Parts: sequence; structure tokens; C-alpha cells
Amino acid sequence: MSDKWLNNIYIRLLREEDLPALEWDGEFKRYRRIYREIYRNSQKGLSIPFVAETEADGIIGQVFLSQKEPNPNYGIRTRYYFLSSFRIKPQFRDHGLGSLLLEECEKQVRLHRIRDIYLNCDRNNNRARWFYQDHGFQVVRVDKGTWTYVNDEGFVVSEPQNAYLMKKTLPRIFWGSRR
Ligand SMILES: CC(C)(COP(=O)(O)OP(=O)(O)OC[C@H]1O[C@@H](n2cnc3c(N)ncnc32)[C@H](O)[C@@H]1OP(=O)(O)O)[C@@H](O)C(=O)NCCC(=O)NCCS
Repeated sequence: MSDKWLNNIYIRLLREEDLPALEWDGEFKRYRRIYREIYRNSQKGLSIPFVAETEADGIIGQVFLSQKEPNPNYGIRTRYYFLSSFRIKPQFRDHGLGSLLLEECEKQVRLHRIRDIYLNCDRNNNRARWFYQDHGFQVVRVDKGTWTYVNDEGFVVSEPQNAYLMKKTLPRIFWGSRR
């Protein structure tokens, strides 16, 4: 596949009319309510959902950031962003788009003056773990158990979770004037 599409990538915030495209022709239909909630939260300033689009292929990738409050139970003392639903369509992987989306995420996190980004990476997903490690994330601990969500048909679904909790702390930057 030619790389031409890379010069015509448009990274922007999720719009309501994009929601059906996030379901990838049914593969991720079960997450419909989660996507809608992320969209609603973005309207309240609580999440930052990015999509990557080309004119020819429509939405080909996505990544969501959700703002979280400190969680003393986990020893997290400052507000942070949780990164989720990071996904590039298979034929567009390994060309640098994931790195571009991650860069956009980091810019937004900085703009909100937050420094920590956390995410869960399935323990069997070595490629994703290497990708995150290459971009400065480190494994904090293993999260085992179940995660529960309401699917598109309104049923409560529990899926086993066996994931690494990973974290990146962005470098401190000086915000004030030095004069
Ligand atoms: C993880 C994921 C989002 C990364 O997106 P991506 O677009 O493939 O990411 P990049 O292309 O920036 O980087 C991936 C690889 O391509 C390489 N790469 C970067 N720019 C490149 C370029 N211009 N040409 C060729 N390769 C390039 C990188 O070195 C990296 O190599 P690595 O796999 O050895 O780490 C994507 O692979 C994906 O959707 N995976 C399936 C879903 C998933 O696992 N999501 C994570 C859930 S935790």
C-alpha cells in the first residue's frame, strides 16, 4: 500500500456523527454506549477523543483521553488522563499514525497542565506494549480481574482483564514568565 495517505491525514476531535464509524462495521458495536459516553464527556470537557481521518477512507484511527481525579487507593495523588480505545485500522498500522496520535494526546495533556498519562495494555499484546515503551510508558503493575460495561443491547457484560497498567509522566515545563 502506498504511503500517500499519510500526507493527507486529518487529526481532529470526535463529532457526534462519527460515532457509527467507530464501530468498524460491527466489530466494535458492543462498545457503542462507551463511545457515546466518551463523546458526551467531551462536551463537558472531561474527555478528549481524537480521530484520524482521510478523505478517501474516512475514520481510520482513534484514541481517547479521559480526565481522572487523584486516586489515593492506588497511590495516585494528582489528576491524570487515562488513555483508551487506541486503535488504527490494520492496513494503516506501522506507518507512524499511532505515534502522531500519541503526540496529539501529549500536547493536549500538557495544555491541561496535567503530567501523568495512564493506560491498560493487555498482557498478550506485545506489539502494543513495545509501542508504548518506545514512547516512554512504563509498566506500573499488573491489573487482573474483570471489567464491566453495558453493551449496545443494554446487557451488563463482564470481560476478564489481564493487563499491564502503564504510565508516562511528561517532563515538567515552565509555564510562567521568567522576567
Ligand atoms: C498500537 C497501535 C495503535 C499503534 O499504531 P501504529 O500506527 O501502528 O503506530 P506507529 O506506526 O506509529 O508505530 C508502530 C511501529 O511502526 C514503526 N514506524 C513508525 N513510523 C514508521 C514509518 N514511517 N514507516 C514504517 N514504520 C514506522 C514504529 O517504529 C513502530 O515499530 P514497533 O512496532 O517495533 O514499535 C496500532 O498498532 C493498533 O491499532 N494496534 C491494534 C490495537 C491495539 O493493540 N491498540 C492498543 C490497545 S492497548
